[in-house]
Amino acid sequence: MYAPEDIKHWNDRTADYLTRDQPAGIAEATVWARELGDVLRFHEYRYYVLHEPLVSDYEYDQLYKKLQAIESRWPEVVQEDSPTRRVSPDLTSDLPEVTHLTPMLSLDNSYDENDLREFDRQVRKLTGMQEGDIDYAVEPKYDGGTITLVYENDRLVRSATRGDGIRGEEITANARTIRSVPLQAAFSKRGIYSAELRGEAIIRKETFHRLNAQREEQDLPLFANPRNAATGGLRMKDPREAAGRGLEVFVFQLGFAADADGVNQLTTLPTHWQTLDLLDQLGFKVPGAERKRCRDIGEVIAYCREWENRRDDYPYEIDGMVVKVDRRDLQEKCGFTSHHPRWAIAFKFKARQATSRLLAVEYQVGKVGSITPVAKIEPVPLAGVTISSVSLHNEDFIRNKDLRIGDRVLVERAGDVIPYIVKSLPEWRTGAEKPIVFPTHCPVCGSPLWREPDEAAWRCENSGCEAQVKQRILFHVSKDAMDIEGLGRSTVDRFFELGWIRGIADIYRLDTRAMAELEGFGTKSADNLRKAIDKAKSNPVHRLLHSLSIHHLGKKAARLLAAEVAYVPDLANWDEARFLAIKDIGPVVAHNVMAFFARPENLAMLKDMEALGVNMRQTEEDLPRVLPADGPLAGKTILFTGTLEKMGRKEAQDLAEKAGARNVSAVSGQLDILVVGASAGSKLKKAQSLGTVAIWTEEEFINQVT
Ligand code: IVH
Repeated sequence: MYAPEDIKHWNDRTADYLTRDQPAGIAEATVWARELGDVLRFHEYRYYVLHEPLVSDYEYDQLYKKLQAIESRWPEVVQEDSPTRRVSPDLTSDLPEVTHLTPMLSLDNSYDENDLREFDRQVRKLTGMQEGDIDYAVEPKYDGGTITLVYENDRLVRSATRGDGIRGEEITANARTIRSVPLQAAFSKRGIYSAELRGEAIIRKETFHRLNAQREEQDLPLFANPRNAATGGLRMKDPREAAGRGLEVFVFQLGFAADADGVNQLTTLPTHWQTLDLLDQLGFKVPGAERKRCRDIGEVIAYCREWENRRDDYPYEIDGMVVKVDRRDLQEKCGFTSHHPRWAIAFKFKARQATSRLLAVEYQVGKVGSITPVAKIEPVPLAGVTISSVSLHNEDFIRNKDLRIGDRVLVERAGDVIPYIVKSLPEWRTGAEKPIVFPTHCPVCGSPLWREPDEAAWRCENSGCEAQVKQRILFHVSKDAMDIEGLGRSTVDRFFELGWIRGIADIYRLDTRAMAELEGFGTKSADNLRKAIDKAKSNPVHRLLHSLSIHHLGKKAARLLAAEVAYVPDLANWDEARFLAIKDIGPVVAHNVMAFFARPENLAMLKDMEALGVNMRQTEEDLPRVLPADGPLAGKTILFTGTLEKMGRKEAQDLAEKAGARNVSAVSGQLDILVVGASAGSKLKKAQSLGTVAIWTEEEFINQVT
């Protein structure tokens, strides 16, 4: 439909229109409306047909809104086939087509508080209601594939995808495999003979990860996200394959309901809320605890915000919230545009994907000398922060993605996952892009780089390399290691320049008075740092071992080792067999620890540290915890959530261990007991939904263990 060689043309037009303001007059508006329409159609084709978008949803929406704004200011320029006049197509396969009983529209989008307030103003104007007189039902915007379900005579007779909103693809056989879709539902008890329901087919995030793990084993291409796995699942030729996707359907709208004579029955359900309640009673999966009826737009905004913060804890992907006028009579007063109902709006969470340009690659040297390439990109706002650097992990990552300097790239940042480059968009290439040439020598000390045959990273082998030393110092003081607060990167850089620290041991030599005299430091910070350093001196040995940046000696291995060694410098005398005798310590860790202790400068450093007061001897905390097998909670797993009143979290966990329970960090099918303090959130919800977890108050917990 669009020739590959035309892509550059469309991309240029896109970039151009993204930066344009508004046309100066009607003549310009006529041209812009036509061109913007073309640009939008091109992107719709990329998105809906090829499933290979070249712009982010956000950018598409920006263009769409620009066109809408032009059309509303100069209605005479509206083109008959304007993208604002219809909904987008996704009819690409040869599944049979069916016509929906009523057209399925889209939703208008909002991105911030102002947009929502404007929506509320609009609704009030259309309904003649006063501020605060309109109830809004707010529920998640599920990010899956839209599905319709038609029931006749209480039986599921047909299911379809949304298609172009008028007609969809028939997928009844696949829908029948979805457990949350009832094959029969007692609509007739409510006088309804035929009904068309709309909902979203989605899969759980956890199912998505499991599916991808399976596919990886079978060498099948991986799903990019849960939505693709779900929409693909709906359209499988073989229903057995659809069944294997673990699809679920959330129903969020009753689009059509009529009695046996074809008389509309929707009017018997005066609110959206009651409609969902009815569907719930009939056995459908509807937004349950997730939905809220809000009394005014302020409450709507607060609820949308709350969910934006919670979205990562929710088991399904959601990309926003949907706000609906609750009363049906008011909905009718609002009416529809050709694109969306005026009584509903989607509040879109901050975008997680955006496109940007790869400007340069820098190379960082890690604490054991691993070289990490880092992409410098044109700064782009993404999910609430501005991203300008993205790790490229290693050379293979760059090669596999065929990244080039100057490339337009798709960047994603999901939840607390660090931002990453999904792919380059080669369609944007002009020919001026340059290959990324991986360095052969350390960018800091100039030593030649070396790559172990089975490792992904190139490494600088010079352990005295300044970059490595600084990284080791930063790691030594980090929370997971010695936990010394107040020594950030800029302070370390500064102390380094002053010649105060050249290695880890120097940290324990820092002069409080000299620090207090540094500009911008002050007595208070110097004292605090001193205290943090002094406290760290008596850390258990497992922290010390972990803090030494021995390659592959992680937190867990450091604990295993600490449980077996009475005095740290003794490790210099251990042979391989002694390391391997420890369960879960393998030859790689053994070898690396031996290599570390074989170096005289490392032993000298430890001696130095010991002389400065750093503990080298096994402490109580280094000894493995033996959970009493006969305690009242023996064999149980336990998790604390919310704020406890009578004791701290740590104290409670210790008590639980003494009673024989094992503390875990997440709610899962493996969890036995959840102890709930004040203002517990998503963990409680999840435990409740699992139905297998015992939920205790702090009081009940104390009664059990004392
Ligand atoms: S109501 C008349 N509610 O969002 C429009 N839609 O952009 C009725 N979606 O295709 C839609 N969650 O598939 C509605 N709770 C929800 C939704 C939801 C997801 C999807 C739906 C629709 C798209 C609109």
